[in-house]
Amino acid sequence: MQESEKLGTGAHTRAFAAGACFYGKEKESMNTKIIKLASCGCAGDEALLEAAQILRCGGLVAFPTETVYGLGANALDEDAAKKIYAAKGRPSDNPLIAHISRMDELPVLAAEIPEAAGRLARRFWPGPLTMIFKKQSRVPDGTTGGLDTVAVRMPSDPVANRLIQLAGVPVAAPSANTSGRPSPTRAEHVVEDMDGKIELILDGGEVGIGVESTIVDVSGEVPMLLRPGAVTLEMLRETLGRVDVDPAIEGPLAEGVRPKAPGMKYRHYAPRAEMLLVEGEAERVAAYINHEAKKAKEAGRRVGIICTEESRRLYPEGILEVIGSRSHEETVAHNLFAVLRELDEKAVDCIFSESFSEDRLGQAIMNRLCKAAGYHIVQV
Ligand code: TXA
Ligand code: MG
Repeated sequence: MQESEKLGTGAHTRAFAAGACFYGKEKESMNTKIIKLASCGCAGDEALLEAAQILRCGGLVAFPTETVYGLGANALDEDAAKKIYAAKGRPSDNPLIAHISRMDELPVLAAEIPEAAGRLARRFWPGPLTMIFKKQSRVPDGTTGGLDTVAVRMPSDPVANRLIQLAGVPVAAPSANTSGRPSPTRAEHVVEDMDGKIELILDGGEVGIGVESTIVDVSGEVPMLLRPGAVTLEMLRETLGRVDVDPAIEGPLAEGVRPKAPGMKYRHYAPRAEMLLVEGEAERVAAYINHEAKKAKEAGRRVGIICTEESRRLYPEGILEVIGSRSHEETVAHNLFAVLRELDEKAVDCIFSESFSEDRLGQAIMNRLCKAAGYHIVQV
């Protein structure tokens, strides 16, 4: 049996599998089609069928998920996966996450499904959680960056979930940004980075969560958190007991040390301007930022300041971006990447940002902000 048949999800898949495939060809540049989906979440199946056919034929489709927009390709097709690296300008040792729509698709990718993975899947799938498994040999090196493990996620977004189902194959999807730029949380961000490089962008409006999925390695003895996200360390420990944390999450790695998730070593999520993260009590942080902003302005530099609803009144100077409310941290996660892109748009030369506590969702927020700032952090 072909893999695509094993994963087939019914009449649509088979009907399209017989259709002509003309998306697989290498092209220098192409016309990227953009389809706006109805906001009800009950996306028109016509658009999704077109997208599914492109995926099955080896092409690239950007689509919304509950975390960030993904750039999808057939995860079992090495050539299709390679096109993702080319479109993103991504180093080829940085593996992709394979997305599935149902639990019975997992054994096609994962050689072993440990008990801990079953428990996490029951509680958090579909949802913003990726797990790392020992891989089946059919998963190509192009998808896993040559590793003997594979990252798998089952998204809860109805568009993403339906698209994977219709494609009838697991969908490899990194975030749909140019490598190194902030992840896209709106279709406009995807258009900025991918227009002319991929076949189709499905515009499902703004995503809900705004930071990428939590990654947990369940392939070893003790589960290990590799990237924090909306499924927090506290939630993982509540479900599993002991969960270790990859040191790559906590700070820059020493020369020569390799993080478990290869993607964590790159300067990521980064705005073009240099950024400084300021930690300390609110009034002192504001005083420090205002002082530094004034100096930078006097030196002829355009200054961006990232603050919160609670602190906005403390900043008379600079281009102010309100990232969200401290009393609702999910708003901070939701706006984080859009704010970094906004400051790029406004062509600032330097950015001063407030910081956040590292509990719960704060760990994911601070992980992204620290990387955006290249770990350029000051305590006041
Ligand atoms: O929320 C998300 O996870 C989004 C949406 C589209 O689902 N995807 C996403 O993909 O963030 P990406 O490629 O931007 O990040 C994937 C991360 C990288 O840091 C990569 O190194 C890591 O997952 N990864 C993938 N496969 C791995 C593996 N076998 N072992 C360890 N880390 C892996
Ligand atoms: Mg990414």
